[in-house]
Amino acid sequence: MTSTTEIRHVPAGEMVPWLRAMRTTLLADPALRDEHSLTWWREVWNPDRVFGGYAEGRCVATLRTFPTTLTIPSGPAECAELPIDALTQVTVAATHRRRGLLTRMLTQSLQDARDRGEVASLLLAAEWAIYGRFGYWPAVMSSDYRILAARRPQILRPKAAHQLIGVDPDDLLEPAAEVHRRARLQRAGQIDRTTADWQRRLGLRGLRSPGVREPVCVLARNAEGRVDGYATWRVQDAGSLLEADQVQVDVDEVLAATEDAYRALWHYLLNLDLVRVLRLHAYPVDEPLEWLLSDGRAAQRTWTGDRDWLRLLDVPVALSARRYSSTDRLVLEVVDRDGGWAAGRYTLDGGPTHAECRATPAATADLRLSQRALAGIYLGGNTVRSQQLAGLVDEETPGAAARLESMFWTAQQPWNATSF
Ligand SMILES: CC(C)(COP(=O)(O)OP(=O)(O)OC[C@H]1O[C@@H](n2cnc3c(N)ncnc32)[C@H](O)[C@@H]1OP(=O)(O)O)[C@@H](O)C(=O)NCCC(=O)NCCS
Repeated sequence: MTSTTEIRHVPAGEMVPWLRAMRTTLLADPALRDEHSLTWWREVWNPDRVFGGYAEGRCVATLRTFPTTLTIPSGPAECAELPIDALTQVTVAATHRRRGLLTRMLTQSLQDARDRGEVASLLLAAEWAIYGRFGYWPAVMSSDYRILAARRPQILRPKAAHQLIGVDPDDLLEPAAEVHRRARLQRAGQIDRTTADWQRRLGLRGLRSPGVREPVCVLARNAEGRVDGYATWRVQDAGSLLEADQVQVDVDEVLAATEDAYRALWHYLLNLDLVRVLRLHAYPVDEPLEWLLSDGRAAQRTWTGDRDWLRLLDVPVALSARRYSSTDRLVLEVVDRDGGWAAGRYTLDGGPTHAECRATPAATADLRLSQRALAGIYLGGNTVRSQQLAGLVDEETPGAAARLESMFWTAQQPWNATSF
């Protein structure tokens, strides 16, 4: 049966049936009739990065990637950036599941990414069990929070006063994109956003889905007039305000390029009239808000788990681009049973201000570790110890795991503010 299903790239002229297949499996309305959305899709369509599976001429499987850059730990300086491939819209129709279609599409897609020189691949997994066999591993965790604004906790005030300015979504794009450019370099794990991403995110150009409210947008401007942060939020259903003692607000995003702007934005959000609870989805696991509040328990973590899964495709480039917390030299035997792209013996020579990693097949290994473990610790989101307990790291030289731990340690957890 598998042999009768063709896997191939999808030209823009075949976009609509591809979207139909993708939307059906992801439980959206199969028909995308909205002209604004179709125009958006035409603009982002890149046939070289879109795969489809076709059985008797009908699209039954989908996969798409896009190029982006990932911020990576770079010591005390701003993060460095790595060119990567981001994987999305992966579906196989229920009628054609478990016949190897995902395996065929993804193996080809990863090979293409490697051939293009993309150093790693990143995705958000619908289920834990799907992507490990292709070498992806949780590298960025995230948390959901419930902030009990009704308790009116005091928050540390900015050192210098900020002006909070309400703007329409159209007017948010430009200053927010600039804040995002600055803020994302302050934390590992962040991918870039294109103008098309912003348009969809803010529901511009008629791109807001039916039933989704327009976000309320606020900018934080410092004393010199520079925009240093922004927040977007919306109420799903306030009901009657006369009876509403539980109005909940979803805070889509609070992004600040300075500590002062962060404080100013949270002061504003915690003091929204009539609002009892603020909900945050997929925020950093080390979100600092609780430490700024007079009552830290007003910020409650309601969920923590995997968010971004990473798969390294080029170990020397990935490890040379990063910076390390301690200076050391280790020989790593990387085992890659999930495709082989990362396999090899490498010498990593690195510290806070320099790093070099090269293939040294004749060197004696200090550590044998799975590519999955290396992807898991790469951004600083997991410990070497956790990967050792998972059976993915073996020491050849006593103490080598602790030395690797010390090198890969980061002061801040990685986080990716951008869903894809
Ligand atoms: C997940 C999905 C894409 C898998 O497609 P598929 O073509 O059935 O996958 P394959 O046949 O190539 O499976 C390869 C292997 O992964 C396993 N596998 C696939 N999906 C799995 C899942 N959800 N849970 C556990 N194992 C899974 C298969 O059993 C198979 O294992 P085997 O080689 O030991 O037999 C498909 O089930 C799907 O579209 N699901 C709904 C949408 C979704 O979750 N998409 C992912 C978005 S991130």
